[in-house]
Amino acid sequence: MLLEVDDIHVHYGKIEAIKGVSLQVDAGEIVTLIGANGAGKTTTLKTISGLRPLTSGRVRFDGQDISRLAGHRRVMVGIGQSPEGRGVFPGMTVTENLMMGAYTRKGDLSKDLDEVFELFPRLAERRNQAGGTMSGGEQQMVAIGRALMSKPKVLLLDEPSMGLAPMLVAQIFTIIKEINNRGTTVLLVEQNAQQALQLAHRAYVLETGRVVKSAPAADLLDDPQVRAAYLGGELGAH
Ligand SMILES: Nc1ncnc2c1ncn2[C@@H]1O[C@H](COP(=O)(O)OP(=O)(O)OP(=O)(O)O)[C@@H](O)[C@H]1O
Ligand SMILES: [Mg+2]
Repeated sequence: MLLEVDDIHVHYGKIEAIKGVSLQVDAGEIVTLIGANGAGKTTTLKTISGLRPLTSGRVRFDGQDISRLAGHRRVMVGIGQSPEGRGVFPGMTVTENLMMGAYTRKGDLSKDLDEVFELFPRLAERRNQAGGTMSGGEQQMVAIGRALMSKPKVLLLDEPSMGLAPMLVAQIFTIIKEINNRGTTVLLVEQNAQQALQLAHRAYVLETGRVVKSAPAADLLDDPQVRAAYLGGELGAH
């Protein structure tokens, strides 16, 4: 197992946002985490990447207990994150933003940069444009590309489709598939449950800080409770 989250509890002050979440991600998989607003999806990703401390429980990655490892060290061992809300540096060019993702690495990075530009031709066209003037969808591409520049073994994506027009949503999902095909494991948080479940191998459903379901993603597409709560309830739409 590449990533193992074992019974983590996470607090914001006295409020317990994560109440004993366990999940596993195997090398090569796309695993999706779905759930309503406030369920704890972002908090779970931040705890894995080291941006939030855990109160108890354990995070294991690639055979190592990383529960107390600093965030930048987790990047070095192979955890890449594209955060909710993107966090593109507005005054830096697209290329400079991408290079920020490689701050833990040494040596010639031009090949990696070319690979990102190959995945996102739009970024190649706009490589000298200021990040802050890129459109919402383009900034999403910058954020994913920047995470890829750290050469992650697992890529954590927090709502990559948020705020995007349907055509761009489809494009982002296709690119996530391509990233996975090229060998990167993906843990994907999405509100867009239908498309996330179509893309992923396995899925976890989070409700108020707890995992209430885990199954092959295709099974959840047919699960009446999941359909009612997260897929608009319609049957036979896929
Ligand atoms: N910095 C914070 N301080 C206090 N409470 C927080 C903080 N961040 C998150 N929370 C609370 O923790 C819970 C989980 O939040 P989280 O952001 O993980 O949810 P989410 O599943 O990502 O939701 P969304 O789909 O809206 O992004 C929520 O009740 C939220 O209000
Ligand atoms: Mg969130």
